[in-house]
Amino acid sequence: MHFFTSVTLLKQYLHAQRMAGRRWGFVPTMGALHEGHLSLVRQSEAENDFTVVSIYVNPTQFNNPDDLAKYPRTLESDRQMLESAGCEVLFAPDDAEMYPGPVRLRMSFGALEEVMEGKFRPGHFNGVATVVARLFHMVEPAAAYFGQKDLQQFALIRQLVQDLAFPVRLVRCPVVRETDGLAMSSRNRRIDPDGRQVATVLSYALQEAEEALLKTKSAGIARSVVGGIFYPLEGVFLEYFEIADAYTLEPVEVLAGQPEVALCIAASVGDVRLIDNRIISRDRWQ
Ligand code: PAJ
Repeated sequence: MHFFTSVTLLKQYLHAQRMAGRRWGFVPTMGALHEGHLSLVRQSEAENDFTVVSIYVNPTQFNNPDDLAKYPRTLESDRQMLESAGCEVLFAPDDAEMYPGPVRLRMSFGALEEVMEGKFRPGHFNGVATVVARLFHMVEPAAAYFGQKDLQQFALIRQLVQDLAFPVRLVRCPVVRETDGLAMSSRNRRIDPDGRQVATVLSYALQEAEEALLKTKSAGIARSVVGGIFYPLEGVFLEYFEIADAYTLEPVEVLAGQPEVALCIAASVGDVRLIDNRIISRDRWQ
């Protein structure tokens, strides 16, 4: 595996590959890799000549300095995992390489960033959009792979690619879960053992909500099912549960013509904030 920290050297390598007629897929990450990340790498491997993975803990998307400081950094084991997954290029720039000067541009995504995570993490999506746009310019991939786990991030990046005409095909990959249902996340390693047990409530509540929604077609009933599951629990705090159009993220009250409806949840377990979602496609309710 080739390892680059310099944009210039990365571009040199990629230029030579382009001249040789090779096409690459790109998986942007913040490291602390797990099976969820590796599933994106594998999908990219299957669909391209080779894969570029980036690891960069992007300060501009952390609205909480404590969260940034505590974000796990495990470059050595990440390198080994990527090597065994068959990744050809790892790009891990430092802050000076990623942001040689101050970024003044602010991107606003309107309604897409005013809901769900946007309400709880002011400035977060502006930071994500900025770094993803910069990475796309540095890597110039044919396709880029993102997880459904961060559905709102995906919706926003789709808008970014559309609005700024990035010549990249976006691929949304399914949520990878632990055996007990907890969606894999780099943050999971910060949950204490008691919290770890209670954390399964997010995926459980989504499953129950999906069942209730498909049975009754009522968003209100699905919401009360989730409320009822969280109400008696200690050690976990429900931040939101939303039923939304999976593309526009607008709230859905009645299952109708949307191609996909997303059930999205966020909750804190101790001081660790977790998110999860399930997507239901129209053929399941029609
Ligand atoms: P990070 O949280 O490291 O996630 C990198 C990619 O892995 C994202 O596309 C995310 O959705 C995906 N991912 C995480 N957990 C997953 C799971 N359990 N199943 C499937 N995919 C999963 O998301 C970011 O980094 C950053 O915001 C980034 C896009 C790199 C910009 O800084």
